[in-house]
Amino acid sequence: MRILLYSGKGGVGKTSVAAATGLRLAQLGYRTLIMSVDPAHSLADSFDLKTGLFHADTSEPLLITDGLEVLEVNIQKEIKRHWREISAYVIGILRTSGIGNVEAEEMAIFPGMEELSALMYVNQFRREDRYDVIVLDCAPTAESLRFVSMPTTLEWYMKHIFPMQRNILRAVRPVANRMSPVELPADSYFANVKDLFDKLDGIEDVLEDAEMTSVRLVTNPEKMVLRETQRAFVYFLLHGLTVDNIIVNRVLPSSIGDDYFAGWLRSQAETMEEIRRYFDPVRIHTVPFFAHEVVGRERLQQLADLLYPEGEDPALAARVDRPYSFHKESGVYQVRVKLPFAAKGEVGLFKKGEELVVEIGTLRRHIGLPASMTALQPARARLEESVLTVEMKEV
Ligand SMILES: Nc1ncnc2c1ncn2[C@@H]1O[C@H](COP(=O)(O)OP(=O)(O)OP(=O)(O)O)[C@@H](O)[C@H]1O
Ligand SMILES: [Mg+2]
Repeated sequence: MRILLYSGKGGVGKTSVAAATGLRLAQLGYRTLIMSVDPAHSLADSFDLKTGLFHADTSEPLLITDGLEVLEVNIQKEIKRHWREISAYVIGILRTSGIGNVEAEEMAIFPGMEELSALMYVNQFRREDRYDVIVLDCAPTAESLRFVSMPTTLEWYMKHIFPMQRNILRAVRPVANRMSPVELPADSYFANVKDLFDKLDGIEDVLEDAEMTSVRLVTNPEKMVLRETQRAFVYFLLHGLTVDNIIVNRVLPSSIGDDYFAGWLRSQAETMEEIRRYFDPVRIHTVPFFAHEVVGRERLQQLADLLYPEGEDPALAARVDRPYSFHKESGVYQVRVKLPFAAKGEVGLFKKGEELVVEIGTLRRHIGLPASMTALQPARARLEESVLTVEMKEV
């Protein structure tokens, strides 16, 4: 099974691109599911489905054409299905603090619940071998980053905190419940957490396996949007995911030839140049700014035809290796860059803002740094077996 994760800043065109991709995949004969992980669902709108109130129909996989189903994760249903004990406990606590019922229920939907629910579906469908490709239409960047970091966080919690909490609570509950201002969670709460964890078992490996999961970042040729795309790129790398495509959407056609747009054309061209430099060697697609919104089957089809010309299969991973990775060894931060074609030679290293720039001969790589390394400077580099290791140190 393949998982294609479409992420990017708010409003850049993630849903449109994800929907168009799903359409093409189904046409190529893949059993395809497009799943929305964004609480503000718009998949049904994108396909111009006449769904009922709150997209009731799409909260279960809904067949919309041969081989293509859509699913919008509905958190209210998910709570009833998977989170009952956990949310009952949280609601109970919130009530004791004097918060009204409805409000407490609203607040008990905590960050990450949607993402975790979506991951559970992915895992379930994978086990059932129900689809060939799952296209994930993500919420704006911040949430999709949470989506991929959740399994790691959860695993850590389950390994280190969960058993301890459970045992301590078992021992102290009889006394503590009489003294504690809030009721302590019952065993059923822990059973629920454990059950959720089991449902997520293995998903981390799936996300980190580039043969299975590819991240595709949708962006626009604008500086502010590009910055967020760069941050997302670094973050996905940090979490071990592989970005295999950048889709630059809403590129103004040069035929626009109007004084009013001259400035836009110029700045878009500049940003395009910067995008190429930064993401090289990751594959880049461009999509023009259409003269209309991308809504309904016909227009999604038009977008699909542009994105994937004859012979191009969006299910295939355009790349499976991460161009660089971050490490910390014996207290020293390292950036490792794969340079498959680099000959040995003079290595130039310098910082430019929050980027590390590596030059070898005519080759130049811009590497976005994670927050922990932005204040450091490149100190030493060595090239071994096509991998350049750069040590980063304080100055
Ligand atoms: N290339 C394009 N040309 C013209 N309009 C576009 C293009 N791509 C997307 N749109 C329109 O822009 C709007 C936003 O697109 P879309 O919903 O796909 O973005 P999104 O990234 O999913 O947004 P959100 O972050 O809110 O989920 C939609 O009305 C869509 O039809
Ligand atoms: Mg969207």
